[in-house]
Amino acid sequence: MNITSKKKLFLIVTLLTTIVAVVALNMSAIAANHSAKAKAEITNVTVNNGEITVRFDMLNYKANKVSLEFTIAKWVNDQIGWINMLQRNRIYEEGATEVVRAGNLRVEVTKGKDGFSYTFKHKDAAIDFSKGAYWTHKKPAGEGEYGAYINHILSEIERHGKWDADAIYRIGVTSRQDERFTAVAYTTGTGTAIAADNAPNQSITLASCASCHAGGTFKAHSNRRHDPQLCFSCHNNFTYDSMNSVAEADGWASVDMQTMIHSIHAGIDGYKVAKADYSSTPNIIKNCAACHKGDVPVPVRGY
Ligand code: HEC
Ligand code: HEC
Ligand code: HEC
Repeated sequence: MNITSKKKLFLIVTLLTTIVAVVALNMSAIAANHSAKAKAEITNVTVNNGEITVRFDMLNYKANKVSLEFTIAKWVNDQIGWINMLQRNRIYEEGATEVVRAGNLRVEVTKGKDGFSYTFKHKDAAIDFSKGAYWTHKKPAGEGEYGAYINHILSEIERHGKWDADAIYRIGVTSRQDERFTAVAYTTGTGTAIAADNAPNQSITLASCASCHAGGTFKAHSNRRHDPQLCFSCHNNFTYDSMNSVAEADGWASVDMQTMIHSIHAGIDGYKVAKADYSSTPNIIKNCAACHKGDVPVPVRGY
């Protein structure tokens, strides 16, 4: 071995040692507060008129604070599907189209005497969902025919987002910190818990994502949102993609699950959601049974 290759070897060994040290440091930084397997488990949801409080345990977790995002969606029916009870406008970046999209609330929750709990609130006041879907940001507006198109979407949100004591609501608790986890629970508008197996739209379709996406994980959203059920709370008929929409009647690009998931897996040249380009995803769309177990539904809206 000559001098240069010894030097190279030394460099490689140093580099590897550094990598191992950095990884170990990261691991111990997580372990110091809580384990990498930390996760939330919803234990109880109470509804006080229209105010909703969710209690949850943090498993494998030692810290008193946890950074989370909360979502709540209402099941309407087969034709409409889920609608988010938190609504907002969205301009993805300067020059993109202002659209409507489902929202969430991002909060750091501190453990109290009775454990972790959160009441949906905005600007320090509890949200009263009995008044219907809540807007965390302003509603978009437009002129003429375009204005009429927007107003129709807004009135559909108002109509379907009306509070209904008998309806079933899905609550989502998702990590906004190092660990990646999602917990969901179902309740009626009166606070009666519904077991996940009895909740609506637990389509067998969904169970099958995990056969290719191990553990129900997806790269989208920095791999934060882990439960395919949760995707439907936002990716429904009332969420549009600001980047790929145009400001004209019928110009908004829908990112409901059917459209988005079909299109991603069809390997369509130029198909984008936000800025992510899915042109090179393998085309598996003809393999209906990969996602649809049992009877494959007949398409009514195309892909
Ligand atoms: C037969 C295998 C297969 C099945 C079943 C499948 N996918 Fe995929 N999916 C892929 C492949 C391959 C890619 C492209 C490679 C990648 O990005 O992981 C992909 C990419 C994606 C992406 C974009 C990349 C990412 O991870 O965010 C999303 C989102 C996605 N799939 C969601 C779903 C959902 C939801 C289901 C269930 C309804 C599903 N997939 C079922 C194979 C599959
Ligand atoms: C809180 C609402 C919300 C939830 C929950 C959610 N999404 Fe999204 N997602 C959006 C919106 C809105 C966009 C469009 C971009 C934007 O406006 O931020 C988007 C964009 C995407 C994209 C485009 C690429 C990217 O990363 O921007 C993919 C793929 C995606 N979502 C998949 C999923 C999957 C799979 C799930 C469930 C595991 C999920 N989403 C859960 C709201 C949500
Ligand atoms: C990569 C996964 C995937 C593949 C492959 C796939 N689908 Fe889907 N499909 C979905 C998802 C996710 C939805 C939305 C389900 C929902 O809204 O509950 C959906 C919804 C549908 C719907 C709307 C009715 C319903 O049950 O929600 C029809 C119809 C449909 N698919 C037909 C097909 C056909 C036909 C094929 C094959 C040519 C196919 N799909 C392939 C994931 C897939």
